[in-house]
Amino acid sequence: MKHILKDLLLVLLVFAALLLLFFLFYRARGNTGLAVILALFILPNIAAFIYGVPFVPTPMAAVKIMLEAAGLKPGQIVYDIGCGDGRIVYLAAKDYGVRGTGLELSPIVYLLARLRHFFWRSKAGIKLGNFNWQDFSDADVVFCYLTPDVLTKLEHKLQAELKPGSRVVSYIYQFRSWKEKQVVVFSEGGRSYRIWVYEK
Ligand SMILES: C[S@@+](CC[C@H](N)C(=O)[O-])C[C@H]1O[C@@H](n2cnc3c(N)ncnc32)[C@H](O)[C@@H]1O
Repeated sequence: MKHILKDLLLVLLVFAALLLLFFLFYRARGNTGLAVILALFILPNIAAFIYGVPFVPTPMAAVKIMLEAAGLKPGQIVYDIGCGDGRIVYLAAKDYGVRGTGLELSPIVYLLARLRHFFWRSKAGIKLGNFNWQDFSDADVVFCYLTPDVLTKLEHKLQAELKPGSRVVSYIYQFRSWKEKQVVVFSEGGRSYRIWVYEK
């Protein structure tokens, strides 16, 4: 219950920030500088929706299974590509002592993640930007919860950059041309979801 209230409060805060932005935009009509900044802020959010990967958080119970399946060891370098509120890298850093970084394209979701990590006193980092700009050659584990089409586009990049022995853990959707090392089934509310574990 406390958790739900906290989430609700954060969502309200994000909406309040949005309202404030629109109010500022409204007041400053004709100010092209501000309009450009706002466009830069809003467009990536729209892009995330258009490209079909909106912010849908992985349930905490599934996050715990994903972390366990990844076989994390202290000090390892871990990314969540499209990190949403950053819950995966937060728990990974807290419970396994890894160096976690969440990458998030949508500025609104990024702000939510920064806010949550501030209140969680998280040791993980959150970076605003497109995961296609990130070099994953130092990664020990990469987590993701993205659509099949996005995963297909990512296959080549990850294959080229990841070092031997590194792992990729994907919630629900699989990488079509990779052979999984393990599949773990997560059940919630009468439905089952797969967690795909790959090793290079
Ligand atoms: C389905 S959510 C998963 C959130 C988080 N990984 C989790 O499991 O709770 C996907 C997230 O990826 C982000 N995203 C989509 N495309 C992205 C990109 N190219 N670079 C960085 N983040 C991206 C979206 O904004 C969204 O927050």
